[in-house]
Amino acid sequence: MYELHVVSEDQFGAAAVDLLRDLAAGACLGLPTGHTPLPVYAELRRLAAAGLLVPGRWRVVMLDDYYGGGEPSFHTWLGKEVITPLAIADDRYLRIPTLPGGFANIAAACDDFESRLRVWGGCDWQLLGLGANGHIGFNEPGSARDSRTRLVTLTAATARANAEYWPQQQPPQLAVTQGIGTILEARRIALLVRGADKAAILAAALQGPITPAVPASFLQLAPALVVVADTAAAARLASL
Ligand code: F6R
Repeated sequence: MYELHVVSEDQFGAAAVDLLRDLAAGACLGLPTGHTPLPVYAELRRLAAAGLLVPGRWRVVMLDDYYGGGEPSFHTWLGKEVITPLAIADDRYLRIPTLPGGFANIAAACDDFESRLRVWGGCDWQLLGLGANGHIGFNEPGSARDSRTRLVTLTAATARANAEYWPQQQPPQLAVTQGIGTILEARRIALLVRGADKAAILAAALQGPITPAVPASFLQLAPALVVVADTAAAARLASL
């Protein structure tokens, strides 16, 4: 089951931020990048600038990033949209590894990410966008329900969708993502969906069979799922 909030496009940011208002200082928030959460992050910045919210006391966890440590990266993107403007200190920000760093390989760096997330007690809220092919994070079709944070190869469709961010070069084919099993451990999940082009995949994810072919369908197993959709994205949902 899930709780559904269908809102107009101009109410989208406020509706998503409303979910976060009761987050205590020290609470842990998992954040995606992409077009969908832009109005949500704008609203967070607006409330923080007006002194109505103090997100700097929260802890933030990245959902995914490209492998290789190059630019553009989701780390830089999230830094500009959220981390810097909301004054999230370095020790309150858990990055997805994009290189092995001091570890033997990227798998060991991913295990370290998972242990740090566990030490933080997991995410209180994980916000997610929805890929046109049903991916969440970069868990592409075929991802397993119990998958953990790992290096993945992007599908050609996802690489094409990302090409606008890499105008001068080949878009990356490799990424590191929290796994579906990792995401499902968040105490609450908010799936954010905007636009008519997501209507069919949203209906498949929420009301179709639970299958690795539509990774977002595993969200039907989440302990507490809230869906915030604009009217265009919600158009194909059968009434409950
Ligand atoms: C980004 C992410 C992706 C996006 C998805 C939708 O961190 O995890 O799963 O949420 O590709 O992207 P947009 O919002 O750009 O349509």
